Amino acid sequence: MRPLYFAPPRSTPGMTQAPPSKVFIKTFGCQMNEYDSSKMVDVLKAARGYERTLDIDDADLVLLNTCSVREKASEKVFSDLGRLKAWKAAKPGRLVGVGGCVASQEGDAIAKRATAVDLVFGPQTLHRLPELIDQTRATLRPAVDVRFPEIEKFDRLPEPRAEGPTAFVSIMEGCSKYCTFCIVPYTRGEEISRPLDDVLAEVDSLLGQGVREITLLGQNVNAYNGVMADGSHCDLALLLHILARFDGLGRVRYTTSHPAHFNDALIDAFASIPKLDNQLHLPVQSGSDRILAMMKRGYTQADYLRKIFRLRKVRPNISLSTDLIVGFPSETDEDFEQTMALIEAARFDAAYSFIYSPRPGTPAANLRDGVPLDVKQARLERVQARIREFGEQFAARLVGTVQSVLVTGPSRKGGSQLTGKTPCNRSINFDGPAHDAARLVGQFVDVQVTASMANSLRGEIVTADARGLLPLL
Ligand code: SAM
Ligand code: F3S
Repeated sequence: MRPLYFAPPRSTPGMTQAPPSKVFIKTFGCQMNEYDSSKMVDVLKAARGYERTLDIDDADLVLLNTCSVREKASEKVFSDLGRLKAWKAAKPGRLVGVGGCVASQEGDAIAKRATAVDLVFGPQTLHRLPELIDQTRATLRPAVDVRFPEIEKFDRLPEPRAEGPTAFVSIMEGCSKYCTFCIVPYTRGEEISRPLDDVLAEVDSLLGQGVREITLLGQNVNAYNGVMADGSHCDLALLLHILARFDGLGRVRYTTSHPAHFNDALIDAFASIPKLDNQLHLPVQSGSDRILAMMKRGYTQADYLRKIFRLRKVRPNISLSTDLIVGFPSETDEDFEQTMALIEAARFDAAYSFIYSPRPGTPAANLRDGVPLDVKQARLERVQARIREFGEQFAARLVGTVQSVLVTGPSRKGGSQLTGKTPCNRSINFDGPAHDAARLVGQFVDVQVTASMANSLRGEIVTADARGLLPLL
């Protein structure tokens, strides 16, 4: 149903084929960027036969898929570009491209500041990479395209290729929340949802390729509002109910959600859809109502906790993770204690927590930031230590339970050891059958958890093929 714009490269009979060009991609930041990087490879492969390489010296094209959410990630890009000058000079014809949010924000200023750069493209124009490569080769000047041409990107991407039993499907792009600290609405554009039929076609194609778990992706995935064939709109809860009826799909999850859109219909979905992962990532940012208002988040600590308590009524053992910012301008000890109180009440078992980083062009960047760095650092350490404790307690409670595990591949330890994911999205390693462990990859097996480590679990296989079991805890 989606037009395939790129014909694969043709070979002429009797001629020896040139080896395929190779692309090396360095990805900064979030899962959205990981997804975009995989799409860059798909586009370049379909249009020009590129292969991905993990060895930069083997590459003809280097792409930096950048993140500008915090200053550190942003600055790292320019130091990498400095180093890429020598890489480029070492072999004629090599190209350097910058994509993602830094590219979107800086546009052609990047090519002026870093002379090694040939291509500058944004999150919404990555499908134009082949044309941009042609353009820079023809003009010998940097080719720049950082527009937001609405949903065109999705229509121009080749069919998705599955790599293993789990896959991401982007259902919406951008963000219209304009939290005062955040650069994303300026770099990725406003929220726009993919039509329902396009999402379903992509899921169907992935399931046909052996995928068993789908993660629905979006900057604010629960603001999904995809148009349906009859012109009406589908929200995330309805999409989940529709996907639950897809036979081959064993498990579905979504990220990242905004608390303001986390409504009763989504809580009901956790109650009524066993295939919905036993995990939720719900960024809260702060526990102080004063700071939340300054951030323009649109909820209070009590609003957030009410939703969590309702959720835990229907899924008592759900894994709950969040994002937290400490040291927002003017954050007092009292504000920070409110964040600690929220952590106690919500019992997050994981979190991405960072010190506030002023982003030029955002409203908060103009606020006076009087909090000393050592105070911010100490607050961050307290947040992280407490959440680590909750994480360890959560994992320890899994020991002794039997979990339905999606086997994702051999474990890094080798032998017949396998690795997989529990319904709460924790990694678990266990010994597969010695004679034929690989047979279980892509299947759901029952695994008894025997030990919890800092970042993973260990277990013993109980039975195979127990798809669809509710998580036990
Ligand atoms: N949609 C999500 C939400 O509901 O909040 C957030 C997506 S945002 C790209 C990812 C995370 O980056 C945020 O949750 C926030 O914690 C962090 N972040 C964004 N801007 C930041 C800044 N200026 N300083 C520190 N952390 C920031
Ligand atoms: Fe950023 Fe707030 Fe959107 S954190 S991605 S503006 S919900």
